[in-house]
Amino acid sequence: MFFFLLFRLCVFFMPGVFTVITDRVTVSVMEGDSVTLYTNVTTTQQDEILWYFNDTRIAVITGDLSRICTDVQCNEDTERFRDRLSLENQTGSLTIKNIQTADTGVYQLKIFSRSSISEKTFSVTVLDVPDKVKTISVKEGESVTFDPGVIKTANYVMRWYFNDLICTDDECKERFRDRLKLNNQTGSLTITDIRTTDSGDYKVLIISHILQNSVSITSLKTFIFTVIDSGLSSAAVAGICVGVAVVLLFVAAAAAGVIYYHKRLQAGQNNPTAQASDQLRYYAH
Ligand SMILES: *[C@@H]1O[C@H](CO)[C@@H](O)[C@H](O)[C@H]1NC(C)=O
Ligand SMILES: *[C@@H]1O[C@H](CO)[C@@H](O)[C@H](O)[C@H]1NC(C)=O
Ligand SMILES: *[C@@H]1O[C@H](CO)[C@@H](O)[C@H](O)[C@H]1NC(C)=O
Ligand SMILES: *[C@@H]1O[C@H](CO)[C@@H](O)[C@H](O)[C@H]1NC(C)=O
Repeated sequence: MFFFLLFRLCVFFMPGVFTVITDRVTVSVMEGDSVTLYTNVTTTQQDEILWYFNDTRIAVITGDLSRICTDVQCNEDTERFRDRLSLENQTGSLTIKNIQTADTGVYQLKIFSRSSISEKTFSVTVLDVPDKVKTISVKEGESVTFDPGVIKTANYVMRWYFNDLICTDDECKERFRDRLKLNNQTGSLTITDIRTTDSGDYKVLIISHILQNSVSITSLKTFIFTVIDSGLSSAAVAGICVGVAVVLLFVAAAAAGVIYYHKRLQAGQNNPTAQASDQLRYYAH
């Protein structure tokens, strides 16, 4: 009761002077994900909402929307995020697109209203991803399973695409008929009785809401799928093998580029990303 009274008195006599730490959350995401950190307030009821990354101001929005800025617009010294940051102007929630391992750190939210300053801290770890794009080849007539490596968070939406068509669309239904099976436990997609026309890009988009809806994560994974035609002559097969070898060379070259990029990003930093896997991982504390 005493503390309650003291609190009320503080509000009354010294508005805006004290700080309420409302929340502190910890989250791990995969490189390339798009991550939204929610304020859980409406901008119109606040004076100002500010976001900091490791103590550098990266976004500001005022209650009357007269000032909205992100990254270098807010602070001439930072160009870390460039056009990867966006602010939602109803709530001041912050989205970091295509998040990188170097974006690992502390994202602090400060909300100034008439009577208080509230703070919320998001501790974000970005894990390295060795295979955001997977290449798979299977013989005609066999079956294949694409595993997105979804972990079982309570609240997520998953969508599979074939060559950018959503696989509930009529065209996709027509193409696969009853050969598609979605495992509702693992989220993996199985195609049985593979046909040569099934070759193409399969993509899975996963949107997860975690930590009581204070964070959402959008993740995209791609499977490049090639069907090996079992009815071809050996000459044609040899041709395909050369083709596949060339593709593999390209993939290897691309992978080398990615690994190089990761190494360069991590140079001179702590190594929060030592644990890499193709799984989405979230940890809530
Ligand atoms: C707020 O966002 C909406 C939708 O993105 C946009 O149409 C509107 O112009 C924005 N308002 C301001 C003041 O920026
Ligand atoms: C941000 O802070 C975290 C934790 O203190 C640290 O691991 C990370 O290297 C920092 N990142 C930058 C770019 O300063
Ligand atoms: C998941 O699939 C099984 C069998 O495939 C089915 O019995 C069950 O009702 C499904 N659960 C949900 C939540 O769709
Ligand atoms: C968001 O705000 C609502 C209403 O003010 C509250 O019930 C809810 O618990 C809040 N959620 C979080 C994650 O703070």
